[in-house]
Amino acid sequence: MQQAASSVSQSSSPYFDEAHSADVVNARMGQNADARLRQVMEILVRHLHAAVKEIEPTHEEWFAAIRFLTETGQMCTDWRQEYILLSDILGVSMLVDSINHRRPSGATPNTILGPFYVANAPEYENGANICLDGKGESLVVAGRVTNIEGTPIPNAKLEVWQTNNDGFYDVQQKGIQPDSNLRGVFNSDAEGRYWFKSVKPRHYPIPSDGPVGKLLGAIGRHPNRAAHLHFIVTAPGYDPVITHIFTPDCPYLPEDAVFGVKRELIAEFNQIDDSDAARELGFAAPFWSVNWDFTLASSANPTPAIA
Ligand code: BEZ
Ligand code: FE
Repeated sequence: MQQAASSVSQSSSPYFDEAHSADVVNARMGQNADARLRQVMEILVRHLHAAVKEIEPTHEEWFAAIRFLTETGQMCTDWRQEYILLSDILGVSMLVDSINHRRPSGATPNTILGPFYVANAPEYENGANICLDGKGESLVVAGRVTNIEGTPIPNAKLEVWQTNNDGFYDVQQKGIQPDSNLRGVFNSDAEGRYWFKSVKPRHYPIPSDGPVGKLLGAIGRHPNRAAHLHFIVTAPGYDPVITHIFTPDCPYLPEDAVFGVKRELIAEFNQIDDSDAARELGFAAPFWSVNWDFTLASSANPTPAIA
């Protein structure tokens, strides 16, 4: 973290003036305030004042900003967190995640959690089909969970969730989709292997009927997320991984609305036109197949610093 503004620009006057505005505000902070809160507030005040000085907003513009923040708060419910969505589309969620999950090379990277994770989803045996609405192109997902050295991790827990073929999560369509459609929990076997059936994910828009969606439109951006499956992979002694795998053919890969795509998370999806293999899986040919291994870093690993 950086230190407070240098003493060169500091004013000793307690009275407000434009040139020293941030210093005047920061000097008012109580000496007994929590040290971390003090540091955070000093930095925020400094950067906020610098932005306002650069923008030079009119009163009308400043009021529009206040109205936007008010509407963002008013949009929030137990099911809708518009401020997190704002942080997502500004790239701040990914930045905070990156800062907190610097992993050794070779480990599966994290990406954004998103608002549609549900704890305690149904647990399935490997091989189960999580698609309960029968829509979409059949997919089989298989792979291994290992550590950085390639040693299999048995009994790792894999939580998976994705949208249905209409582009909605089950929790967005209660009463329309079957409960727990396209979500489930699997455990890796003695060799670290997991496998399940699903459907090829498709791109979908983040919730865009609120102030964040309006902002995206106003700045010429679309709300679409690149097609993905979500995973949380956990095993005792290892750093939990919150991640996705992306389809390689999605046009939104380079312009994901929340900056969640990492090159290392783009998988190879193969279309298999083999009626025997399809029959064995209970699919019609052709179907999709993706092999994807998760590499977990030991939780004892120190976080490498970024230059
Ligand atoms: C998601 O991938 O589910 C998601 C992520 C960020 C915002 C909205 C949705
Ligand atoms: Fe998602």
